[in-house]
Amino acid sequence: MNMKYMDDILASIHEIPPFPQVVVRAMDIISDPNYVVNDLLEVIRLDQSITANVLKLCNSAYFGLPRKVSSLKEAVVYLGTVHLRQVLLSSGVKDLYDRPDKGYSYFAGELWQHAIACALMAQVLLRHLRLPLEENSVFTAALLHDVGKVVLSTYVSREFADIEKLVEKENLPFHEAERQVLGFDHAEIGGRLAELWQFPDDIAAAIRFHHQPEKAPKPHCLLSELIALSDGLVLMLGCGTSVDGLSYAMPHLLIDRLKLKRNDIEMLMVKFQEEMSNAREMIDIRDV
Ligand SMILES: [Fe+2]
Ligand SMILES: [Fe+2]
Repeated sequence: MNMKYMDDILASIHEIPPFPQVVVRAMDIISDPNYVVNDLLEVIRLDQSITANVLKLCNSAYFGLPRKVSSLKEAVVYLGTVHLRQVLLSSGVKDLYDRPDKGYSYFAGELWQHAIACALMAQVLLRHLRLPLEENSVFTAALLHDVGKVVLSTYVSREFADIEKLVEKENLPFHEAERQVLGFDHAEIGGRLAELWQFPDDIAAAIRFHHQPEKAPKPHCLLSELIALSDGLVLMLGCGTSVDGLSYAMPHLLIDRLKLKRNDIEMLMVKFQEEMSNAREMIDIRDV
């Protein structure tokens, strides 16, 4: 194992800004189905970009409201919990994924689009397969599953030739090659970052094991498998493929266990495409 970068990489984790507390507190409030709207407003009012994004999404073509909504309270009520969660988390991680990420990406914004696509896919699978998981955790884990790439990006671009060689000559999945060349893979680094941000164990585990869900601790298996499958499916559809996109095997655990047929998967793909086109406004949040 190459030890050259290990200390630097561990130090880089601490250079990533803390996860926005406004988002954590707001998510906590909306996780209670009977939450008081004023409590939420107290929290999100403090954040200009979240406030702007809530209003922007509410006034977007997707909602097609007959008049412009300018009150935050009204917008929150219109959006409802599912869209609020989407807009809160998306605003919260946008800056993170917007950092220059030469290491993995072919074009700017690719990591961000992949994250959104994976989060929407996970949400579609969760609902249609009626998995016993909490929507907040699913959306958060999916959105952040590749967050370790933000840390590793610089190192991957420096050592890309060696990593690529292992992937092409020895047929290693990309994360294995990262581990051999850099000492860590992006999944482990993402898991460590989630722990540092004090995310719940299930989310940290799903991030850490998204390329090897079979190794996740038992209580977090299902969430890890769901994130792995969502990631695999969006990569297959070409959503944010990046340099590593085609060098992973499709994770079959959940497909096999739930005995999903080709038809089921096709139906889920259609649902996902609908969600994606509805979510254009959310994807464009990065431009606010
Ligand atoms: Fe990944
Ligand atoms: Fe991914």
